[in-house]
Amino acid sequence: MKRLNAPKGWSQLLFVAPTEPWAALRAAAAAGAAGTTATLIAAGLRGRGGGGFLTGAKWQATAAEPASQHYAVANGYESDPAVFTNRLLVEENPQGIVEGLAIAALTVGASEAFIAVRAEYTEAIKRLEAVIANAEREGILGSTLLGTGRELIITVRPLQGSSMIGEETVLMKALAGKRGQPEQTPPYPSEVGYLGKPTAVNNVATLAAVPWILNNGAEAFAQIGDTTQPGTVLVQISGSVTNPGVLEVPTGTPLNEIIAAAGGTASGASIKALLAGGPTGGFIPANLFGGTPYSGAGLKGVGAHIGSGALLALDDSVAIPELATMLTRWCADEACGKTIPCRIGTRRLAEIGQRFVDGLAGPADAERLQKLAADVTDSALCAHEALAPSPLLTGVRYFASEFGPAVAATSATPASGRS
Ligand SMILES: Cc1cc2nc3c(=O)[nH]c(=O)nc-3n(C[C@H](O)[C@H](O)[C@H](O)COP(=O)(O)O)c2cc1C
Ligand code: SF4
Repeated sequence: MKRLNAPKGWSQLLFVAPTEPWAALRAAAAAGAAGTTATLIAAGLRGRGGGGFLTGAKWQATAAEPASQHYAVANGYESDPAVFTNRLLVEENPQGIVEGLAIAALTVGASEAFIAVRAEYTEAIKRLEAVIANAEREGILGSTLLGTGRELIITVRPLQGSSMIGEETVLMKALAGKRGQPEQTPPYPSEVGYLGKPTAVNNVATLAAVPWILNNGAEAFAQIGDTTQPGTVLVQISGSVTNPGVLEVPTGTPLNEIIAAAGGTASGASIKALLAGGPTGGFIPANLFGGTPYSGAGLKGVGAHIGSGALLALDDSVAIPELATMLTRWCADEACGKTIPCRIGTRRLAEIGQRFVDGLAGPADAERLQKLAADVTDSALCAHEALAPSPLLTGVRYFASEFGPAVAATSATPASGRS
């Protein structure tokens, strides 16, 4: 799989390296923290790592925390299995990410910043390190940030471990060399982050948008895509499409346009569903493709979420109960074990799913599925648990006939996903 060319008319900015490297960093230095955060808030930039928090507001909060040291972290860990939007982005636009992180560090008052990436992303690591080394040689980063005498050391941190490392409180521990399980938030890393200090944590795609915004203006960014979440996002479309790969898509693009941009269906058979949001995502049936915008709110409305940016196109050969059960089992296997309803509840959900697959489920299982899913979601310590029931719930909701007569009798409601 590769990066796909976007159709004409779709704005492209994440995969595009700044034409004048470091101009945005200089602009941020001139604007000061208040000016930079005001521009990002006016642009409406929201985090691309899942939570959709306003980036400018996060940086304001981090900068406002009284502490002897602040940090900035680029989250390029990319937790979901078989997703590589972040790897492609880092390989194609390392300048944008390093510059975005440098602007974050400058804005929150950090003299040290880290780029967390998967250890196996060797090419991405090499390219990031080359940008940093060049910038240090030129006096842009390092001991004299932009020649001011102020220090900014950026280090690439290759990490290896479970999918939980992508969660920001775990990431803070992993960077400190500690074993990680998510912590209750608040406090967020903006208050208590790396080594207990205020830390701005942002996905690499969020950071790559920052130089573009400072170079082109908040208004230009705010006009792209969905007004509630402007800009572009990276979508990895795979499965039953002719050209699987990663597309840069304006937020709010209808799902059927994304499928068309990936060349339509590969097998000639029609696509019956999209799985949006990876293993904790939701199934979306074909009749909703035209009316569902690819945005946090749009996907949440149908029981899915953007998450890692994965879209899996499924044709008629795929049995939804089987796939939903397999994904739930993955969620159970990946649960870190800290919260009992997650550790045990996701396992029980997978067992119920398996009974549907085996044709052994009765009406009590259909009810149990709904009740347990609600309990699991309500008791969630982190979004892993909150979203884990989504494949089974959306499967039952939209593909009830595949689950058999026991399901048809119940009214199902999917969990609403984290955007
Ligand atoms: C289980 C779990 C896994 C996550 N994995 C990632 C990840 O791989 N990459 C990422 O940027 N954010 C991930 N997040 C979200 C981060 O905790 C955090 O919200 C994000 O990095 C903040 O950056 P943003 O404001 O730019 O979105 C994950 C969250 C959870 C609960
Ligand atoms: S909700 Fe699940 S994954 Fe999250 S902290 Fe609890 S046990 Fe771990």
